[in-house]
Amino acid sequence: MRKKQVFKLTKKLDHVAFIMDGNGRWANLRGLPRHLGHHEACKRIIEIFETCREFNIKVMSFYAFSTENWNRPQEEIDHLMDYLEEFFHQQIDYLDSIGTKLIVSGDLSRIREQTRKVCYEAIERTKNNNNWIINVCLNYGSRDEIVRATKAIAEEVKEGKLAVADINETLFAKYLYTNGLPDIDLMIRTSGEQRLSNYLLYQNAYAEFIFTPTKWPDFRREKLIDCFKEFEKRNRRFGGLKNE
Ligand code: IPE
Ligand code: IPE
Ligand code: MG
Repeated sequence: MRKKQVFKLTKKLDHVAFIMDGNGRWANLRGLPRHLGHHEACKRIIEIFETCREFNIKVMSFYAFSTENWNRPQEEIDHLMDYLEEFFHQQIDYLDSIGTKLIVSGDLSRIREQTRKVCYEAIERTKNNNNWIINVCLNYGSRDEIVRATKAIAEEVKEGKLAVADINETLFAKYLYTNGLPDIDLMIRTSGEQRLSNYLLYQNAYAEFIFTPTKWPDFRREKLIDCFKEFEKRNRRFGGLKNE
């Protein structure tokens, strides 16, 4: 059941992006293995998704695994993939039933076969849904994404399908994994780290950033609403002088 929202967001908030950080530290603090932090983290995704829905936010991006996360021990990577598969298995019926489209941003070719399969099935099954969009960033890196887009555009120019004069910001965005998604309005990173870690650099160009010390497994509905209240107070000028 969707709870009643506690205050009204008046600012446009079409797309919120999350860097779900601090799972390992959350587990360490409790004397648990790091992977149990990742397990707990997956449970927060639905709660955060539901809270976004209360505020009628249609698009949510979640950073699940970066191109740099291959630097972690294989055992931790395996656990992460296990939990991701579990998340899809447990939630896909529900997400589909409320009209959620699942998309995955990132290079899935390097992801193990069973996880890739679960992702493709979810994408295929929900491709015609349009009420809500969950964008899972998996083996995602912004620099990789931008280089890929550039190569794809260069190929099309070489083949004569595209003229150099046609390349502009709108066209470029179409070659990114996030093609068709609105720009990010709000980017939230948990765990106190204040960096982007190669996350959606192009899409975050004019996002408002909130860095909260809360670790992702502790990031509950109320904490997200606090972020929305903070966002509501921001003055988004987009280079102009307007005072919203
Ligand atoms: C974020 O939590 C999840 C992933 C990077 C996959 P971390 O695993 O980075 O947790 P900390 O930052 O070590 O606490
Ligand atoms: C970013 O977190 C990636 C994800 C949350 C999936 P990291 O914990 O990997 O980032 P760094 O290493 O602290 O920059
Ligand atoms: Mg981290």
